[in-house]
Amino acid sequence: MPAKTLISSLLLATGLVVAGEEAASTKPGFKKFDLADGKKVYEANCASCHGASGKGDGAAAAALNPKPRNLCDSKYMSQRSWEDLRKVIAEGGANTGFSALMPGWKGVLKKPQIDNVLAYVLTFSGNSAKADQAAAKAAEKAAPKKAKAE
Ligand code: HEC
Repeated sequence: MPAKTLISSLLLATGLVVAGEEAASTKPGFKKFDLADGKKVYEANCASCHGASGKGDGAAAAALNPKPRNLCDSKYMSQRSWEDLRKVIAEGGANTGFSALMPGWKGVLKKPQIDNVLAYVLTFSGNSAKADQAAAKAAEKAAPKKAKAE
């Protein structure tokens, strides 16, 4: 392929990616999940087991078998969908095929807090894009009429 063609197709490809991201984040009602709130929720409720930086080395972890998941494991975390991870956090390990040592949080945390804490957890493994996609989806659901009107 001549260099000129190669360069223009590369430019085209990057242009498309950027346009795609912009489309998701400019949907009406789109708002990223609140990472500052997620951090607060995490430190108060999750760090004791999962560790302050998500490595699974919290103070309580030594006594647990299986160990709390290493939330920095980017390969593992990239394979798990937003919906599935959210379900484990909300319903707990016992109700989702994981260890009962992972508590369920839906009676303790409000829905937006669960979104925020999962968005924060995904920063440990470089999977924040999952959270942004989920936020864009939520915005779409919340404002279908507005989105159509534009
Ligand atoms: C009492 C200890 C404990 C606390 C507190 C705890 N976890 Fe866990 N968590 C675990 C254990 C143990 C596992 C591993 C379960 C397994 O692999 O069977 C786990 C697994 C997970 C997973 C992986 C789920 C998956 O799909 O593999 C996520 C995400 C998670 N926890 C998030 C959280 C969040 C967010 C909080 C706070 C709101 C929290 N955990 C609080 C012990 C804990």
